[in-house]
This record gives sequence, structure tokens and C-alpha cells, in this order.
Amino acid sequence: MLAGIASEDEWRVLRGCRVCEVRCGADSVRFVVSPSMHYPDVWSTMLLDGARKHVLDQPQPPRTIVEVGVGAGVLPVFLDRWLGERTDSEYVGLDLSPAACECARLNLEMNGAHTRFEMIGGGHLLRSLPARARGRVDLLVANLPQVPDAVAENRNDYYLEPTDVGDQTDEPRVGGLGLLLEMLREAKSVLASDGRIIFTLAGRCAGATITAMLSAAGAEFEVLETKRVPQDPDTRIDAFVREETERGLQFRFFESQSATCPIGARRAKLAMDDDQPVYYDLHVALARLC
Ligand SMILES: C[S@@+](CC[C@H](N)C(=O)[O-])C[C@H]1O[C@@H](n2cnc3c(N)ncnc32)[C@H](O)[C@@H]1O
Repeated sequence: MLAGIASEDEWRVLRGCRVCEVRCGADSVRFVVSPSMHYPDVWSTMLLDGARKHVLDQPQPPRTIVEVGVGAGVLPVFLDRWLGERTDSEYVGLDLSPAACECARLNLEMNGAHTRFEMIGGGHLLRSLPARARGRVDLLVANLPQVPDAVAENRNDYYLEPTDVGDQTDEPRVGGLGLLLEMLREAKSVLASDGRIIFTLAGRCAGATITAMLSAAGAEFEVLETKRVPQDPDTRIDAFVREETERGLQFRFFESQSATCPIGARRAKLAMDDDQPVYYDLHVALARLC
């Protein structure tokens, strides 16, 4: 079957890929994910749950939906299921990685999706969004990397905040949220006046710091859902320790799923060095720009 549908680029993407199953509500969908790409995880499903509630709760589905960082195309495939033929909504998926867009296209084809989905690869954040969509985006969705480059080792690019592109903000890249803050600033030029943003938000920084940073980027937000998730033991959190020690920033890690008292980055790192599990709160949030 693939021989009939896959283009040359798609075949290239398919090499060495894995198949994964993603569940949302009553739906379960299979995706191919190539080794160079983000493997759908709890961040993906949190985003999906938030987007599903928002899209299905609206009397009219959002007309123009844009996702920054489309990855394997999890959101557009599910959107197609939720919206079916009953809407004239259009979706534009953007990703720094052209291979991610190929993979997303392939997953849409394999899942028999409608053709109103467009994927544009190779652009930083919202820069390659077509002019026709600018100022008209009703829903912007993003599950962006939130690990500063100094933190991660042995990781593919999709986990990292790029440092060489687009850093035009005066904000320091605090707690890994630099890319998200930059996206929120860019969102001003693409959102419709009543447009909304749904995004994943790691709660590793203290809540007040996060609120101050997002508000400085012009966003008012509410948390839709929070899950306590394990910190990936392969990720080094040294940069957070430095921010805590040198700049007095507060971090919120936890020693167990049920702990109520947070520990800072330094204690979290000691626990991780000792092969102990460490957790943080992952949020999915809904924002508007003010
Ligand atoms: C954590 S993955 C999320 C993928 C998918 N949306 C999901 O939820 O499973 C982040 C995605 O953002 C993309 N990305 C990273 N930096 C980007 C940037 N500066 N501009 C656009 N996309 C970027 C990566 O290539 C990756 O596909």
C-alpha cells in the first residue's frame, strides 16, 4: 500500500521509522515516526487533550488552525477525526524540520485524512506562515522544546531550544521557556483579534516566574490541565542548577508523584545523579494576547 502513496521524500523519511499508537478520548491512531523526530509522548497527549476540549467545546470550530512544531502530525490526524466533513476549517502545520512535515503528510495520508491540511517545513517558529493566514489565526497550537541547549546531551535537535536563530527578545532564556516566549511574541502578528493559543508548559520554574515571563511576552493564560511527569533521566539539568545558584531563580522538582513540597534544581540534580527518579508538573495552557 505504501508503494502507492509514498513520494520519494516520504520513502526517505520512512527509513528506520517506528510505529506508535496515540490515544485521545475514544480514538486510537497509529503513526509512523522516523528516528530523527520527536516520538509522541505525554507532552503530545496533553496538548491533544487540551486542543480536543477547546475545539469541540466551540459552537463553531476554529476556522484557521496553525500548529508550530507539527512533528509526526499527531494533532492534524486527530483534528481530521474530530472535525470530519462538518467544517471548512483549515490547518497549517509548521516545523523547523522539513522531515517532520514529510512524516506528518505521510501519517495524514495513511490515516485517510482530508486534504485541507498544509505542512510547511524549514522555517523558524511562525516565519513561514503564508500571508493569507496572517492576522486570521483562530487557534495557534504549540508543543515546543523546553530544554535549554546547555541542558541536553546526546539529544536530537527537536529537544533543544535553538540558540543561533531568532533570539530577538530581551528576555533571558529562563528555565527553557525562551522559544515559547519568542513564539508568543510572534503570535501577535498572526492571531485573529479573538484568537487563542494552546500550548504545553513545563512547570519546572516557580509559578510566579512563569506568569511574569508570559505576561511580559503579552500573554494572559490559564492552565487547563496539569500532570506530574518524570524528568527524563538522560537530560542533564545543570543549566537549571546554574540559574538557581547564580541568579536565585526558584525551581520546582518533586521527589515523588505525590510529593507536595517541591525541591530545587540542585537537590533534583543530586537525586538524579544518585539514579533516583525526579518529577515536575507539566501543564497544558490556554492563552490570549493582550
Ligand atoms: C516536542 S516536538 C512536538 C511534536 C508534535 N507537535 C507532538 O506534540 O508530538 C517539537 C517540534 O517542534 C519543532 N521545532 C523545534 N524548534 C522549532 C522552531 N524553532 N520552529 C519551528 N518548529 C520547531 C521540532 O522539529 C519538533 O517537531
